[in-house]
Amino acid sequence: MKTLLIPLDTNATKPLYLQVADYITTAARSGQLKPGTRLPPSRTLADQNNVHRSTIINAYQELKARGVLASKQGSGTYIENGLSENTVPVSNIKKPETLPTDELIAEIRRMHWTEGMISLGYGPPSDELMPVEDFDRSRQRVLRRDGKKTANYEHPQGYYPLRQAICADLVKQGIQADPDDILITNGVLEGVALVSRAMAAPGDTVLTELPQYFGNWTNFSYLGLNVRGFDLLESGPDFESLEAQLQDENDRPRFVFVTADHQNPLGTCWTMPARHEFLKMMNKYDIPVVEDATYRDLTYDGMPHTPLRALDPDVIYVGTFSHSLMPGLRIGFVLCRGRLRDHIERLKAISSGPVETLNQRALADFLSTGEYERHLERIIPVYRSRRDALLNAMQTYFPPELRWTKPSGGFFVWIWLPEHISAIDLFHRSLKKGISIAPANIFYPGPCPQNAFRLAFSHYPEDVLTRAVMEIGRLL
Ligand SMILES: Cc1ncc(COP(=O)(O)O)c(C=O)c1O
Repeated sequence: MKTLLIPLDTNATKPLYLQVADYITTAARSGQLKPGTRLPPSRTLADQNNVHRSTIINAYQELKARGVLASKQGSGTYIENGLSENTVPVSNIKKPETLPTDELIAEIRRMHWTEGMISLGYGPPSDELMPVEDFDRSRQRVLRRDGKKTANYEHPQGYYPLRQAICADLVKQGIQADPDDILITNGVLEGVALVSRAMAAPGDTVLTELPQYFGNWTNFSYLGLNVRGFDLLESGPDFESLEAQLQDENDRPRFVFVTADHQNPLGTCWTMPARHEFLKMMNKYDIPVVEDATYRDLTYDGMPHTPLRALDPDVIYVGTFSHSLMPGLRIGFVLCRGRLRDHIERLKAISSGPVETLNQRALADFLSTGEYERHLERIIPVYRSRRDALLNAMQTYFPPELRWTKPSGGFFVWIWLPEHISAIDLFHRSLKKGISIAPANIFYPGPCPQNAFRLAFSHYPEDVLTRAVMEIGRLL
């Protein structure tokens, strides 16, 4: 390291050498200064910070006494090895029962990066299934072909050949779409936020299935929307509960947000009659429909169902390549027509600008060369086998009073406990065993059942899933 500027206060009562020592200690403990980093010689550091050399010599001595610095004859002063504390020890995790929902959500996310934790409360795709080498070949082809264009701004709606390739993929599901009606977004979450901002204003109501993926309902809430829910059955919407929410003419939802395929967190998939009945009802009440197609390409049993958008071209469709390919790409899309499409394009230009173009170009190549289909053929049997392992382990190790969904796709299983058992309590006790689960609370903006939770099977191999379920079963 050549330069290190330290904010020093010459009026403070704390001596300057201690200010220097504290600054370097904090940076070393937080990992900002990595073990082995060589600090500037004392004379250089003194000049850079406009202090006397003896201040730095004293600070370095203090740091050596604290075990933060080490020095080697002739080769300078280094940050001592093994200081960084990048991972959160399990004992630092806050007690869930004291947390409001948004903090509980943040804790469950953080636990995924906690050393030693089996994180079944959070469901990213599996590291081993990321096709990084295959995708890199697409990147390299695109770099050779497009050169410096791959580093510039992209069209605000997204790279045109990618929009064409997405349309070519959608036609296989029965969706006829024009590339001009596609807007490329930073994942599906940005798509949901843009559509919500375009269709509703703070104070308006959005209607959605509850439980609902926390990323979606918090997206609505943070935009100031009023989130109202209807119940889901294994076959699709509970139509009585849905219609009850549509009766009040003075407070009609601005749109209905639904996931017909492999819903997060329930893992349910609507039957075809339920899809038709739902669209008929929305037509009757003249309410726009937004379809979340996040897990659409991850169907493990039989053929996927026809998406709502294929049955009604007015349905607004939000999709993503985060789970079926790689979340690190941050590529999702919105399919919608007319003035709404123009509106969300303008909102996107204002809020985040176009998505980075190299990945968009590489994804267009990956889709159009058939690599994406081959990749799905490789990963689907792996996820199917993990799902089966989780379900089998639950059958073996969970008490018979428990009930759960049997997902035909996606990443999640939803479990109902007997009424007297609290999921938050189970969450807390599982954490002590190094396992995180997702209690129902995080999937509801308001009151929720206390006896349900979600497990993700996407991230771990079969033996880890089985071991974790055995442990939870013991706790139960
Ligand atoms: C239903 C659903 N929507 C959106 C997301 C986030 O997707 P993206 O990375 O495309 O923003 C997730 C992530 O788990 C999800 O389950």
